[in-house]
Amino acid sequence: RVVDAAGNVLVPGIVDCHIHNREPGLEYKEDWRSATRAAAAGGVTTVVGMPNTDPVIDRPEHLELKFDRGEASAHVDFQSYAVVTSENLDLIPDLDEAGALGFKIFLGSTVGDVPPPNDGEVLEAMERIRETGKRLGFHEENGEIVDHYTERFKTEGRNRPIDHAHSRPVIAEREAVERTITFAAETGTKIHMFHVSSGAAAEAVARGKARGVDVTAETTPHYLWFTEDVLREKGNVARVQPPIRDADERERLWAIGIDDGAIDCIATDHAPHTPEEKGVDDPFADTWESISGFVGLETEVPAMLTFVDRGRLTIEEWVRRHSTRPAQVWGMYPRKGSLQIGTDADLTIVDPDAEWTLEDRRDLHSKHCVTPFEGESFTGKTVATIVRGEVVYENGDVVGDSGYGTRVDVDE
Ligand code: DOR
Ligand code: ZN
Ligand code: ZN
Repeated sequence: RVVDAAGNVLVPGIVDCHIHNREPGLEYKEDWRSATRAAAAGGVTTVVGMPNTDPVIDRPEHLELKFDRGEASAHVDFQSYAVVTSENLDLIPDLDEAGALGFKIFLGSTVGDVPPPNDGEVLEAMERIRETGKRLGFHEENGEIVDHYTERFKTEGRNRPIDHAHSRPVIAEREAVERTITFAAETGTKIHMFHVSSGAAAEAVARGKARGVDVTAETTPHYLWFTEDVLREKGNVARVQPPIRDADERERLWAIGIDDGAIDCIATDHAPHTPEEKGVDDPFADTWESISGFVGLETEVPAMLTFVDRGRLTIEEWVRRHSTRPAQVWGMYPRKGSLQIGTDADLTIVDPDAEWTLEDRRDLHSKHCVTPFEGESFTGKTVATIVRGEVVYENGDVVGDSGYGTRVDVDE
């Protein structure tokens, strides 16, 4: 298959190290096939799945199950994190051996049944993970602060979508970043901050880097694109953890995170839920009845290209954060994240000038496509996606086979 790339731009395949593919166990929301179909359509050649599935990916058998399901049905290449809870510290070496890309700790409650480890357990997990040479990433929100304000707001009868955002304040994120950086300074473990949503947290990451801690960080297109006004306009559709922040935090996220370089990676936190779970029929109904997260795989490249078009970052700075750095941070470089030609080539072809609007979320390829980007306009789109030399997506059609995608083996 030959792609006519004339007039378009060829970049190394986009690497999204933060998706919730939901398989095993939550296939009513999404599965490997539908998530990687969306990835192919979005220009994403490698995805890394989060471990808050059912069962959670907390032991080697569960990781193997997740890998087997991916081998059977993925359209693009993939990997997975293993979770560390208060109950599986001794399994860290086995999860490493079983081929986990890295580890994730959810500090505080999240979507799914993932008991958060206490501070002592986090420290011990860091010591054990240091021995594997792999990186430990955090859902970095202080659960005690979040739980306190959530309960208080519920008692006070505050139940608008914006109240959900304010119940998870910036201080909860910033404190968790500072604490885990302090722990990593003590243990010498490589750590990562997933989905950094605020300037305050980006600043804490910058200070950690300046201290010499091996801390890397990620943000998502939605924190760079929206302000909390989107919760007043689109309601619970835009509900996410951590929440979308105010304009001041967004500007400081741009300044400290992107302009000054505290943020290494762009990823989506692609988190599909059914329209019923999101409450789309009445997006301003009781926010506590709704659920956090939305899809992103097919809007991340257009959103970033739109920022490039507006002059907010260069195309090189975008590619570095959306392909090269994520592959390096998670140990997949140069197999992933580099510009190669030939049968090993992962390539994304984009039209940086295409102007379009996401009129209808049902044009997307996930099982459920609720997203606050519905109705947004972009400059730039994905034209074709090439995984290991094969075209998997071209001009509106996913043309690759389910099952072609394979696990990125980092222990070879
Ligand atoms: O909004 C979120 N949704 N944040 C998370 O940390 C989890 C995710 C999910 O799994 O739906
Ligand atoms: Zn998270
Ligand atoms: Zn997530």
